Amino acid sequence: MTASTPPPPPRRKLFIKTYGCQMNVYDSARMADVLAPQGFVATESPDDADMVILNTCHIREKAAEKVFSDLGRLRALKDTRRNGQDMTIAVAGCVAQAEGAEISARAPYVDILVGPQSYHRLPELVARAARKQGVVIDTDFPSEPKFDYLPTPRAEGPTAFISVQEGCDKFCTFCVVPYTRGAEYSRPAADVLREARGLVAAGVREITLLGQNVNAYHGEAPDRSTWGLGRLMRELSDIDGLARIRYTTSHPRDMDEELMAAHRDVLQLMPFLHLPVQSGSDKILAAMNRQHTRDDYRRVIDRLRNYRADLVLSSDFIVGFPDESDADFQATIDLIEEIKFAQAYSFKYSRRPGTPATAMKSQVSETIKAERLAILQTLIDHQLETFNASCVGREFDVLLTHAGRHSGQLVGRSPYLQPVYVNADKQLIGQVVKLRMTEVATYSLGAELIDAKAA
Ligand code: SAH
Ligand code: SF4
Ligand code: F3S
Repeated sequence: MTASTPPPPPRRKLFIKTYGCQMNVYDSARMADVLAPQGFVATESPDDADMVILNTCHIREKAAEKVFSDLGRLRALKDTRRNGQDMTIAVAGCVAQAEGAEISARAPYVDILVGPQSYHRLPELVARAARKQGVVIDTDFPSEPKFDYLPTPRAEGPTAFISVQEGCDKFCTFCVVPYTRGAEYSRPAADVLREARGLVAAGVREITLLGQNVNAYHGEAPDRSTWGLGRLMRELSDIDGLARIRYTTSHPRDMDEELMAAHRDVLQLMPFLHLPVQSGSDKILAAMNRQHTRDDYRRVIDRLRNYRADLVLSSDFIVGFPDESDADFQATIDLIEEIKFAQAYSFKYSRRPGTPATAMKSQVSETIKAERLAILQTLIDHQLETFNASCVGREFDVLLTHAGRHSGQLVGRSPYLQPVYVNADKQLIGQVVKLRMTEVATYSLGAELIDAKAA
């Protein structure tokens, strides 16, 4: 070691808890990356952690409140440490962005508050927190995109996320995301392609492109023109070794022709699409400011199915939005049956501070919301079971991702994202293999190996 080489930083243990969407999962991994050069290594529990980050979600009241109960538990843990100084607590993500002041007031033992667009500054925030009493806050929407300052992601297994788009300009009347994540931003295509090539070179076979409105992607192309998501996908498909591409979450209004055609032309693009519609009632869609009607949505699905007949769809639904009548709810049920969604996430409408819908008259009672949610979820479960049952006997190319709980068992995902279990040699992890589906459990399929090399 030369005299000018600084000593390595002391080893410190980092525990990150992630709430909310896949963007947060991606961000948590990046926070760990950005802190690694400071000597932070991951630990599995807060009990022995030197630093705890709660990467939070503000989308519904329950998610936000969970943060405060978890903070209460962390405080007890912090108090057992010497001087209470030996554990740094950071709140990151969308609750930090939206409710920073409330967190400082309710949980003054929090050391760092950092928003979703400024976490690349964590090393500096940690250093500042070590020097000063009281909370260090960074909830800016910085002009420099955080991606320019984050280390290149490492591959962890055969699947990976790449965040390509952030933020939202849609302002649905129920939603906090435009406030917590800020305006729409698309990463330059060259950066995305570089990240993808690096991941594939390190063994990744499946990439999921992420964004709050991923199909609103309009990134700068290498020739300075602008590429949409369909074009980006075509370029990604040229990467040797990349077997599968997925993308989430999309908005029906941003489904352009080029992206729809990619469902026919890009062979790696999986025939499963999460395209949230929220409601089947035009009155409610208008009140939600979704900027499309039920028929617009149907037309998008028809066009997509023209390009890819075996496309399977999933959606998000909100029940009990203000002024939702029985007839409005029935229109949602009818649409679910008509489109034959094979999967869905469904939620009771939750009033969120600062959003227009929270002030709307005719709020729906919690009892009715609960009733409607139960009806909707029963229907979706039934459709999911029907779809899973229809897969028995079929052959799918499955990317095997990890070992199962039973010895000799491997787990993968079908093209339709169903978990698939098979007895096979663990050498096959990371391979796409041909399997025949032999049995169905509630949320997964059992299969047998036909060919260790997929067609
Ligand atoms: N950008 C995506 C969704 C992001 S939020 C889209 O436009 O579809 C994920 C899901 O949370 C939404 O699709 C919606 O179904 C649900 N959600 C958002 N705000 C909500 C609220 N206030 N109450 C209940 N569910 C909500
Ligand atoms: Fe929220 Fe609507 Fe934006 Fe989706 S499109 S993130 S639901 S405001
Ligand atoms: Fe939640 Fe923020 Fe994602 S509010 S759903 S973590 S964008």
